[in-house]
Amino acid sequence: MSDERAIGVFDSGMGGLTVLRALRDSLPQEDLVYLGDTARLPYGTKSADTVTAYALQATRQLLRHDVKMVVIACNTASAVAIQPLAKQHAPLPVIGVVEPGARAGVAATQTNRIGVLATESTVKGGAYARAISALAPDVQIRQQPCALFVALAEEGWGDDAIAEAAASRYLKPLFDDPGTAPDTLVLGCTHFPVLAPAISRVLGDGVTLVDSAATTAESVAAALAEHGLATNDRSNGTERFFATDAPERFARVGGLFFGSPIDATAVELVDLQLT
Ligand code: DGL
Repeated sequence: MSDERAIGVFDSGMGGLTVLRALRDSLPQEDLVYLGDTARLPYGTKSADTVTAYALQATRQLLRHDVKMVVIACNTASAVAIQPLAKQHAPLPVIGVVEPGARAGVAATQTNRIGVLATESTVKGGAYARAISALAPDVQIRQQPCALFVALAEEGWGDDAIAEAAASRYLKPLFDDPGTAPDTLVLGCTHFPVLAPAISRVLGDGVTLVDSAATTAESVAAALAEHGLATNDRSNGTERFFATDAPERFARVGGLFFGSPIDATAVELVDLQLT
């Protein structure tokens, strides 16, 4: 059996392309449809109700392309919307990035002290703290909202002196006291992996950075197998890109997140309010 329908993936903007890249690497045979809600970014400073409404619209748009699974490649939307989304579209499998990110953090820590860098809304909702505690109740968790990282990443300034200055300022409270400093930092926002080199320069050796992209790809592969949805009969899957605003910019900056160039003429503009 081979199910050749695509996997649908969405984020508020380009951050989810870090997850799309991991999916492309580990599932080369699958077709992928990506939607970036660039017109309404950022999600991380908005209320849970607003983000849930946006996530439901994004999913409806992806379902117009007959996707067989939805990956919420946004921690903010995963944290607040995974349950309503899965309920509304059952039995469609819906995979979020928070639980896989928590799993990656728990697997990496040696000292049982994990720091989570995320958007304001993800930190406020406490989804990471709950997911980490459910896996490893003894782990101490410190969270730090880093709203500016999203803007820096979307600007394509993830790896420069400005990103480093922002990282030093955000990280200081977590590392002030060596007695409580984490040995592992979870990048709890899919925009943040493009800032990883700048963050590492500020931290030096001794702190492991993890993100949810690879572990999310593992969860997707497991869910495809479990539901009999994998594509088996071809070797090269395709990608299709949709954005709700500025498709040319999406392609230009999005290539940094995806790790390969995105052809601007292939990014289609959609209006989620009409879905
Ligand atoms: N990439 C998103 C996340 O993982 C949020 C960025 C934003 O829109 O604030 O949380």
